[in-house]
Amino acid sequence: MEIPSGVYDVLTDPRTVIADDRVQIPFELDRARYEQVNKILKEIGGRWDGRKTVRAHVFPFPVQEFMRACLATREFPTRYEQGWYPTPTRVVDEMLAHAGIREGMSVLEPSAGTGSIVGPAVECGGVVDCVEIDERRARVLREQGTARRVVHADFLDLDPLDCPNGYRRVLMNPPFSAAVQHVKHAMGFLHDDGTLIAVLPESGMWHSDRATVEFRELIALAEGTFAPLPDESFAPSGTSVRTVLLVVDAEAGGPLPTHGWHQAQPRQLDLFALA
Ligand SMILES: C[S@@+](CC[C@H](N)C(=O)[O-])C[C@H]1O[C@@H](n2cnc3c(N)ncnc32)[C@H](O)[C@@H]1O
Repeated sequence: MEIPSGVYDVLTDPRTVIADDRVQIPFELDRARYEQVNKILKEIGGRWDGRKTVRAHVFPFPVQEFMRACLATREFPTRYEQGWYPTPTRVVDEMLAHAGIREGMSVLEPSAGTGSIVGPAVECGGVVDCVEIDERRARVLREQGTARRVVHADFLDLDPLDCPNGYRRVLMNPPFSAAVQHVKHAMGFLHDDGTLIAVLPESGMWHSDRATVEFRELIALAEGTFAPLPDESFAPSGTSVRTVLLVVDAEAGGPLPTHGWHQAQPRQLDLFALA
């Protein structure tokens, strides 16, 4: 949801302190403006603590990094929106430790948000292409200027064969509500020597619907691993959802439907051409 301009002005005022677990506004606001600010800070998870020593909105998570992302897009996630939970720094570090990105390595981030993974992957030497469905977040990614390419699109609509080569690394924290679908689709963009690293909700470990069960079987065949992330890993983004980290390596002729696998499939078009 968009941050109203009056609230944006208050939150970006140089006198406003956004640090650790609190937002402190040490200047007078008129009643209507205060109520607007209060409503949004509460929606994000803060609660007003009026004690003399505090006098701030206090959050159950370190709010600085998260507010920076919100202010960059001038929006904040409500629980009804698309599941925008920026990946906290510690989780990104863990992903990068598995990724072993080397200078010039091609990397795909297919649900890139405002670049919590993109920026650090570029700093490691990755050449990163990213996709984001939300126009405002895609604009922020472009303005950051770190990714080689920013595609504003529904990732699930993109055809792996429209990209000439697979990526050496796919790093992703997809929307939790459709995580399995996103990861399976992302495999089509993975090079046969590539590695895919994804944050998934822990529910993917026990959901018994057919798609999730088949997904777990596929990962087992490919000898991928699901490692639980510490509880509260996503607290900095305002959710207590439990998460796991999937790491899976592709190999030529292996079980994953990689970019190479897609290329090897007979194309429908060609079959018609022969008829
Ligand atoms: C859990 S957030 C993670 C954001 C980013 N990966 C990060 O780590 O900060 C999921 C992101 O996926 C985006 N998204 C949701 N559905 C998408 C789709 N079908 N195609 C591309 N991006 C999508 C959302 O807008 C949101 O920014």
